[in-house]
Amino acid sequence: MAPSLDPATRAALLTRVRFYRDLGLTEFYRRPVDPELAAQWTVEPENLGAPAVGVAVPGSTSGFSGERVGEHELQPAPALQPHFLEDQPIPPRKLIPAPPQVAAATPPADRAAALELIREEIGECTRCPLHAGRQKLVFGDGSPTARLMFVGEGPGADEDAQGLPFVGKAGQLLNNMIAAMGLKREEVYIANVVKCRPPGNRVPEQEEGATCSPFLFRQIDVVRPEVLVALGATAATWLLGRRQPLAGLRGRVHSVRGTKLIVTYHPAYLLRDPRQKKEAWADLQIAMRELGLKPPSKE
Ligand code: URA
Repeated sequence: MAPSLDPATRAALLTRVRFYRDLGLTEFYRRPVDPELAAQWTVEPENLGAPAVGVAVPGSTSGFSGERVGEHELQPAPALQPHFLEDQPIPPRKLIPAPPQVAAATPPADRAAALELIREEIGECTRCPLHAGRQKLVFGDGSPTARLMFVGEGPGADEDAQGLPFVGKAGQLLNNMIAAMGLKREEVYIANVVKCRPPGNRVPEQEEGATCSPFLFRQIDVVRPEVLVALGATAATWLLGRRQPLAGLRGRVHSVRGTKLIVTYHPAYLLRDPRQKKEAWADLQIAMRELGLKPPSKE
């Protein structure tokens, strides 16, 4: 049995776990390692892609917010008590299921209706346990013919209340990132791995991601963006179909469902550690290069 925690210790522990999670380290406490799972950690040739070419904007700003990088210092997470590190027997994870076959292209004029059909098929979903805590299902938002699509993890409290993705604080930062790329939010498409809010904004469980991600794949197949951007480790894991720390996935172009995929930090992580915005901007510049976009000139 896990020891019961007082609220302050629990909050400290959560801070630390979220910090590692944002870095893509979600598996460091699991063992024994499942050999089949370990095999997934190898880099496949199709995902080697182009070498890193993203160049951070010279100077001291992060590029998309005008904030000075380095002004914010990370608050070190409080030290953990040794009993947190005691081994808990955790069963090996099931493998991430193979995503459905890539669907045939939908003509641009039919994409809005095709997305609407997927939304109707999802309906008042009760396919996984997340429906129990849901206020509003968050399907997706933006242009059905977008050239650029962002994929997040799952709705937070604001998104759950409004039924739209990325409308809270992380969403404001995402809007700034989109604007810095010279685009309007309405021009891109935004969706999440899971469409209902995980309790306490935890990472979606295997069953939840496996149940919901096929709808995300269908949205991708309809929109057919030229470039996908995975925001954070959860989106990268489900899009690529394997777990790998974020650091090993950033800075290059992957291929998913016939679309180029760039992996970067989740905006919520950037809010917690704004020093990484410069790195995220370098990732977004790779996406811009692939789309042939130039940053808007500053007047
Ligand atoms: N975080 C996400 O991953 N998705 C949202 O829609 C909002 C916050």
